[in-house]
Amino acid sequence: MADIKQTDLNVELGPGLVPILGHLRKDLFGSGPAIFIDANRQSLKNIREDFSSKFPPEIYRVDQFPTALPLQADVKNIPLAPNSCQIIFASNLLGSLKVGIKEVESEVNKYAKDLYEKIKPGGRIVLLETYSPNIVPENMAERVFTTTGFRVAEQHRGDEIRHIFDNSNAVSVKAVLDLRSPDLSYALVLEKPVSS
Ligand SMILES: C[S@@+](CC[C@H](N)C(=O)[O-])C[C@H]1O[C@@H](n2cnc3c(N)ncnc32)[C@H](O)[C@@H]1O
Repeated sequence: MADIKQTDLNVELGPGLVPILGHLRKDLFGSGPAIFIDANRQSLKNIREDFSSKFPPEIYRVDQFPTALPLQADVKNIPLAPNSCQIIFASNLLGSLKVGIKEVESEVNKYAKDLYEKIKPGGRIVLLETYSPNIVPENMAERVFTTTGFRVAEQHRGDEIRHIFDNSNAVSVKAVLDLRSPDLSYALVLEKPVSS
């Protein structure tokens, strides 16, 4: 698969059937394309069809990006160039990395290192965990990502996680927020420092 060469990318990892990247706060976005990466071919087929024909662009808000592109890949090895992403957003992905309890931390650690390489200095990772049965605890995610070099820019819990969205009443966003486990859900916004 050819690497995507553009920079200032806006990336959603593991969107499943319904991408919600476009509903995040606008100040988080870069000026480049939106890329939706999932291992599941069917998810991407649906997204591609939805973007191209089924829904008006404002449903997914992909109209605010120069282009929107679904891409089949494993999130542990995303085919993007170093320092190419302004934002990488992952909703309920950490908990679905399909690893046993013992390996979770080392697996998230590898994942964090790969994302650190792909994010440009000043760019951000947005991790949203709401409903996964294997939810990765907030303190573990925070520890692993900050050890990797990220700094915590924002941290929201429970109902406050809506603050990462521009429109938390969009139907697709509400669907994810309404599923949340109140005690476990969180949104972490992590920045790659400019001086690193
Ligand atoms: C629990 S769903 C989350 C869907 C949506 N983001 C949400 O919050 O409702 C996890 C998604 O991540 C994808 N996924 C899981 N592991 C992956 C991997 N290693 N590489 C790429 N995609 C993966 C799955 O195909 C699925 O679409």
